[in-house]
Amino acid sequence: MTVRHPHVPPFIPQVGADVAAEEERLVRTRRDLHAHPELGFEEVRTSAIVRERLAELGIPYLAGVAGTGVVGLIEGRAAPPGGNGASREPRVRPTLLLRADMDALPLQEENTDPFASRVPGKMHACGHDGHTAILLSTAAVLLRRIDRLAGNVKLVFQPAEEDPGGAQPMIEAGVLREPHVDAAIGLHLWTQLPAGTVGLSSGPLMASADEFTIEIRGRGGHAAAPHTCIDPIVAAAHVITALQTIVSRSVDPLESAVVTVARVEAGGSAYNIIPEKATLRGTARAFSPAVRAAYPERIERVVRGVCQALGAEHAFEWKAYYPPVINDPAITSVVARESRRLLGEDRVFEDIRSMGAEDMAFYLREVPGCFFFFGAANFAKDAAYPHHNPRFRIDEDVLAPAVELLARCAESALGMLAAAGAERG
Ligand code: NI
Repeated sequence: MTVRHPHVPPFIPQVGADVAAEEERLVRTRRDLHAHPELGFEEVRTSAIVRERLAELGIPYLAGVAGTGVVGLIEGRAAPPGGNGASREPRVRPTLLLRADMDALPLQEENTDPFASRVPGKMHACGHDGHTAILLSTAAVLLRRIDRLAGNVKLVFQPAEEDPGGAQPMIEAGVLREPHVDAAIGLHLWTQLPAGTVGLSSGPLMASADEFTIEIRGRGGHAAAPHTCIDPIVAAAHVITALQTIVSRSVDPLESAVVTVARVEAGGSAYNIIPEKATLRGTARAFSPAVRAAYPERIERVVRGVCQALGAEHAFEWKAYYPPVINDPAITSVVARESRRLLGEDRVFEDIRSMGAEDMAFYLREVPGCFFFFGAANFAKDAAYPHHNPRFRIDEDVLAPAVELLARCAESALGMLAAAGAERG
């Protein structure tokens, strides 16, 4: 089991009365979404639930953004900072983007909760049902705290985080404009941390994720006469081994990097046939954009050299998916401070990173912000399975605290952004 800090006991903090009043609805919404999972860009029902709640709250929204995406806007009413009144021009108020992803995974749920997935082969096994419910309730709470918001909150309900990625299409559809977004915050429920803890990092938090495909062409023939063939399997074995030197011999040891060959395909028709070709597929990951940028050339150079030495031909394909998630120090310090206030000093871990990837990265490449993990593991409730596991579960008691934290982060970050704007004049 991969829970970090497993000896930190689960803890559910006191939340505001407005959040407590939301909790029943919050859990109900999460369970409803959990029972009806939808894959990326198919979140039609989910999107309808989001629209209905925003309409009920009287929050203006745009629907059909990048397909099933929904974007709501709350305009805060706190007095601008540093203003001694009428002589000052009204300033452009800062806008903070809060992001939730809505999609589920192609996986058969093995849990037997009454709200377990009712759709065969589909499951919310990453917690995105929780994220959507949390952001809806946060919207409701922020409305009650609207007099404390020194700017706008843009509520972004995004499709297809898992595959193929909905953040980039949302950005292309203009989600960072009108009003212009100054900063972004998002959270991920995390069963690798105990319930009621927060994990985050200033700077890189999650890695880039890209895919490579290597095709090695040899010459097939009888397995008893290898000298008449060019064996692509032996070439593939050497390529796999030589690829291990990329991380170990050519990336700075102080950087984090992964090159994994995850799929090998060759032959298969008989035990005594050397096949014509072998195909390797895998992923390369990094926190640093520079390490990431160097991968395609480095990997292909290894493949080219090995294949040339063994007389095989090669083809190389690189598919760029997600950049690294890189957190802004100032926004991250706001999130860390609010987390410590809510949960206590010893329940906030500021050294948590993951080589997993997240398309929140695309927003954070455009605007400063913070993505963080809200611990949701609880062994006593059998909720400590890894993400994407058919028995993935969360401790639902963390949902309301997550709303409280997100609402406080929004208020605090807007206050900071407005103060910085007032100082710039
Ligand atoms: Ni996820």
